[in-house]
Amino acid sequence: MNYLCPSILAADFWELGKQIALVEQSGAPYLHIDVMDGMFVPSISFGMPVLECVRKKSKLFMDVHMMVEQPERYIEELIRLGADGVTIHVEACNCIPETLSKIHALGAKTGLAINPKTPVSAVLPYMDLVDMVLIMTVQPGFGGQSYIMDCVDKIKEMRGIINQHYPDVKLEIDGGVTLGNLKMNLDAGANVIVTGSAIFKGDIERNVKDFLRYMEAV
Ligand code: DX5
Ligand code: ZN
Repeated sequence: MNYLCPSILAADFWELGKQIALVEQSGAPYLHIDVMDGMFVPSISFGMPVLECVRKKSKLFMDVHMMVEQPERYIEELIRLGADGVTIHVEACNCIPETLSKIHALGAKTGLAINPKTPVSAVLPYMDLVDMVLIMTVQPGFGGQSYIMDCVDKIKEMRGIINQHYPDVKLEIDGGVTLGNLKMNLDAGANVIVTGSAIFKGDIERNVKDFLRYMEAV
């Protein structure tokens, strides 16, 4: 099963509510919320008030991507406000097992992310605590970047390990995904597809439906 996960980072914030409703009506199951702290990544995006507001109106699975140093500081509040899944970066957290366990104890799904230059081996010690691995396919921090081709081999490597040892773990990719490279990524083994610009720029309904049709056909 493949899951489309539109990233609101690329939305028009004047129209945020309407655009999320379009994504939901068009059949996307997940919504990706990119939280940036200006430290782990250069930019600052949005956080708790947006999450809280979206939760009140939307039933989409809220997939919160923490591009934040020491994300353990925010777990309780994120989940209290409605996060369904919280993904932390291996590069940003010195207490990974404790943080993943806390996410589980509070009733949410765990995700563990690696940057394009971080090897797959960095997530392996934590796999028993992980519901989803996120392989970044751009340098985190900004939407609208080009997909880094070197990441395809990492997706294949991770898929091999998941299939062999952790069949329930999802494999998410994030950054530079378009209809043009979707098949390559699905073939490599990704099954949670984050995409910002390719959904929110242009006709949102049509974009979601095009992605879903393609993902169901594979
Ligand atoms: C990048 C974010 C992504 C971003 C993807 O740091 O983590 O989720 O929104 O945007 P696109 O699909 O435009 O590359
Ligand atoms: Zn993201």
